Amino acid sequence: MGKTRILTGITTSGTPHLGNYVGAIRPAIEASKKSDVESFFFLADYHALIKTDDPARIQRSTLEIAATWLACGLDPEKVYFYRQSDMPEIPELTWLLTCVTSKGLLNRAHAYKAATDANREKGDDADAGITAGLYMYPVLMAADILIFNANKVPVGRDQVQHIEMARDIGQRFNYIYGGGAKWDGMKWDSVQWDEKGKEFFVLPEAVVDENVATLPGLDGRKMSKSYDNTIPLWLDPPQLRKAILGIVTNSQPPGEPKNPDDSHIFSIYKAFASADQTAQMRKDYVAGIAWGDAKEKLYKLINDELMLKREKYHSLIAKPGAIEEILRQGAERVRKLAIPFLATLRTTVGLLNLAAVDESHARAESSSSEKPALQMVVFRDDDKAFAFKVLDAKKNVVATKGGFSDPKSAKDAAQSALDALANN
Ligand code: TRP
Repeated sequence: MGKTRILTGITTSGTPHLGNYVGAIRPAIEASKKSDVESFFFLADYHALIKTDDPARIQRSTLEIAATWLACGLDPEKVYFYRQSDMPEIPELTWLLTCVTSKGLLNRAHAYKAATDANREKGDDADAGITAGLYMYPVLMAADILIFNANKVPVGRDQVQHIEMARDIGQRFNYIYGGGAKWDGMKWDSVQWDEKGKEFFVLPEAVVDENVATLPGLDGRKMSKSYDNTIPLWLDPPQLRKAILGIVTNSQPPGEPKNPDDSHIFSIYKAFASADQTAQMRKDYVAGIAWGDAKEKLYKLINDELMLKREKYHSLIAKPGAIEEILRQGAERVRKLAIPFLATLRTTVGLLNLAAVDESHARAESSSSEKPALQMVVFRDDDKAFAFKVLDAKKNVVATKGGFSDPKSAKDAAQSALDALANN
C-alpha cells in the first residue's frame, strides 16, 4: 500500500533518438529506482496503428524501443514492462470508457482539432482522411492509464490534454457507476464532478518535469521526429560524430567570445554534462572556443555516456526472441492486476453472469429509493470554472451559480444553497 504508481507509454512507430533519451528514457529509469514508486513502462503498439500502416515499421520499432529501455538499465524484474497489445483488457476497457465519454470531449482534442482545422483551411471536408482511430486515441490512452489506477503520468507538454481527458473520463465513470448520481436526462457534458459515490478509478495526474531538458535538434528547433531533425540514439561513433558536427550554429569565428545561453550546442552539452563540466564549458565559451571544438567535446561527452549502453543494445537486438520472452512475462505479471479489476468493471456496468445475483442492480435500486428530495451537482462549465446546480426530485434546477475556482468552494456554496432551500 501507499506506493505511487507511475506509468509511461511509448508509441512504437519510430527509432529512439537523443531527445527521447534525455527527455523520457533516462529520467523515467532514474525515477523507477526509488523505493516508494511502482513503475509501469509499456510499448504502445495499438497507438502506433494510428500513425502508420506499415507492419514492418511497427515490428522493428517495437524491438528497438524495447531493447533501448533494457540497454539503458530498466530492470524488468523490478518494474512492470510490457507490450500494450499483449493485454486484451486494454481494448476491452477502452469500450467501457467509450460508452461514458462524451463525443464533444473528443471533438476538442488538440490532435483531432488540428487535423480538422487543416482540412477546413484547404477547403476539404473537415473529417477528410481522419480515421476513427485518431479520434478515439484519447480514450485508448485513458484505458492504458486507468486500468492500473496510475497516480502519475510523466509526459511532454503536448500530452497534458490527454491526461486531463483520462481524468475526465475516469471521473465520469466513477460518477455514473459509483452511485454519486444517475444520468436521468441531465446533460452529460456538464456533469463532471461529484464527491459522492464509489471510486473505481484513481484520477491520474500529468507530471511535466521542468528540470528535464528538451533537446534542440539539428536545426535548433525541439528535437522531434515530426521536424525531421533528430539524431538517432544508437548511431555508430563515426556517424554520431558526423551528425553532431552538422548541428546549426551561428557564424561567429573562433576566438570571439560566445554566449552559452544562446547556443544549441551548449544546451545539448548541459543535458549530458556534470555541473563541473558545464561550468568549464561556460568558461570555454567566454574564452571564444571554436564551434568545431565545442562540437568535438559534445561528441565525446555523448559518446562516453552511450558507449556501454550501445554495446548492450546491439547484443539485445541480436536476440529478438529473448526480448519477446521478457515482454510476455511482463504481460503475464500485469494481467494479474488487470484481469480481476476488469471483472469488477464488467459486473459494474451489467455484463453479468445471468445466474449470479445482480448486486449492482440491487445497489442502484436501494440508492435511488434513498435519494433526497434535493440534490446537488458540481460540474465544470465551458470556461473550465466550477459551478453547481441544485435539483429537485423532478430534476428541475432550483438553484445554480458558476465562477468558482475549485470544486470544493462550488460544493460548499451548493451545500449552503441546498440547506437554505431545505429549510424553507
Ligand atoms: N500518446 C503518447 C505519446 O504519443 C504515448 C502513450 C500512449 C502514453 N498511451 C499512454 C503515454 C499512456 C502515457 C500514458 O507520447
